[in-house]
Amino acid sequence: MSPEALVADRVRKTYRVRGGAPVDALSGVSLRVGKGERVALLGRNGAGKTTFLKIASTLLAPTSGTVSVFGHEVQAEADIVRSSIAVVPQEGKPFFHLTPREQVYTYLRARGFDRASAKTRTGEALAQMELEEVADRLNITLSGGQRQRTMVATVIATEAPLLFLDEPTIGMDPFARRGVWESMRRLTRRGSTILLTTHYLDEAEALSHRLYIIERGRVLVDGSAEGLKKEVGGTLRVSIRGGQDLAETFSSFGSLVRDPEALHIITTPERLVEIMGVAVGMRLTATVGPVTLEEAFLKVVGRSIDAEN
Ligand SMILES: Nc1ncnc2c1ncn2[C@@H]1O[C@H](COP(=O)(O)OP(=O)(O)OP(=O)(O)O)[C@@H](O)[C@H]1O
Ligand SMILES: [Mg+2]
Repeated sequence: MSPEALVADRVRKTYRVRGGAPVDALSGVSLRVGKGERVALLGRNGAGKTTFLKIASTLLAPTSGTVSVFGHEVQAEADIVRSSIAVVPQEGKPFFHLTPREQVYTYLRARGFDRASAKTRTGEALAQMELEEVADRLNITLSGGQRQRTMVATVIATEAPLLFLDEPTIGMDPFARRGVWESMRRLTRRGSTILLTTHYLDEAEALSHRLYIIERGRVLVDGSAEGLKKEVGGTLRVSIRGGQDLAETFSSFGSLVRDPEALHIITTPERLVEIMGVAVGMRLTATVGPVTLEEAFLKVVGRSIDAEN
């Protein structure tokens, strides 16, 4: 048995678009996910994350390159691969005319679980996603976040060896999100492997052992959240609201990240008093916090965008 849960080798995908130019969604993505790992794929909208997940989960054929899951090639051995994976698709919806309980149970039965274990697993998954109160109402009557929780419950109930989750916590409240994180951790403790995408970088940080940043169909960065944060050159972030044009004033204090709201100075505790002195002197609003994955992401992807332009 392969020691890796997933190995992707130079995966390319070009979508043919009727009447338009072809779209190069993936331009040679290679990555590895070890057994029992939780790995996050990050990247801007349109970077290629969903395309990759679809290829890796047998739903879409690559233009070239290969992906293997537990040593089985996803295209040549799709049936074997399907039996060891489960997928939460991006913007998936539960069947409207089933209840969450029926949805999870039916899915488990279709995957071959016997009645008794399907029933037990259904109860556990609904409890984990805190869906008991609405478990016997039609999905169509559920709120958006409750529907999404039903999608996640369906997949975690399988405890499949490899789980693909494409933005699993979209639209969930902060409690529900943490419930999903806890379920993910429990699954990997029991031996499952998880590949997820998310735009919530606090989630990526809380959850992933490793991460890949995909940009324009290529792997831009491969590492840990901690490693990536170190790369931005400091542990503190001073944010100057509306200070985007003040790069020159602050460039000597650390590395700078700009977003539409603020100028962020990534710096060290020793420089803090000086920076605050300048900010107060200029009557600027400055807030201080730890460097998060968000700054690292903005910096690394921003640098790549600048280099392309
Ligand atoms: N069926 C399709 N036909 C043509 N182009 C497509 C198709 N699906 C996706 N694309 C394009 O491929 C690229 C990658 O899309 P993909 O859905 O993989 O991105 P993503 O990283 O998942 O983005 P998001 O964060 O918005 O979900 C985009 O440019 C997108 O417009
Ligand atoms: Mg997507």
